[in-house]
Amino acid sequence: MTHPYIEHLLKDHKKQRKLEKKLIKAETREDKEKYRQKLYDALYPHIEGENASIFDFLVKKGDEAKAGALEAMQEHHVDRVLLDELMALDVDDEVFIAKAKVLREVNNHHLKEEEKEHFPRLESLASEEELDALFEAYESAEHEVEE
Ligand SMILES: [Fe+2]
Ligand SMILES: [Fe+2]
Repeated sequence: MTHPYIEHLLKDHKKQRKLEKKLIKAETREDKEKYRQKLYDALYPHIEGENASIFDFLVKKGDEAKAGALEAMQEHHVDRVLLDELMALDVDDEVFIAKAKVLREVNNHHLKEEEKEHFPRLESLASEEELDALFEAYESAEHEVEE
């Protein structure tokens, strides 16, 4: 059975994919602003939470797990740069949709790697108790951003 922590991360990914799609399809100023904010609110805490839990754990494991985790955290960094730039743009700016599409491409590549590589690796390396603790670490980092 999939641990609730992993289930939670997968549910977040589903939400991110849905919001990215809605943002790219948005036509009115109102919708572009709405979905940009919703995507920001979904993505930012997720990134902070993952850095403080799964990737902190995998970095400590060393070797291949560490190398992969460092790469994933660099992808988080690129996500944040693009997200911050998107937040600073006027939604009618000619690069708005182009930037939103690139964010989606970068993030979807990242989500796929997490789901195919990092989550299975975590499940094979961490005990039930460790997964419980990582879920707690994830949620406290996530809430810190939201406050
Ligand atoms: Fe991530
Ligand atoms: Fe993720």
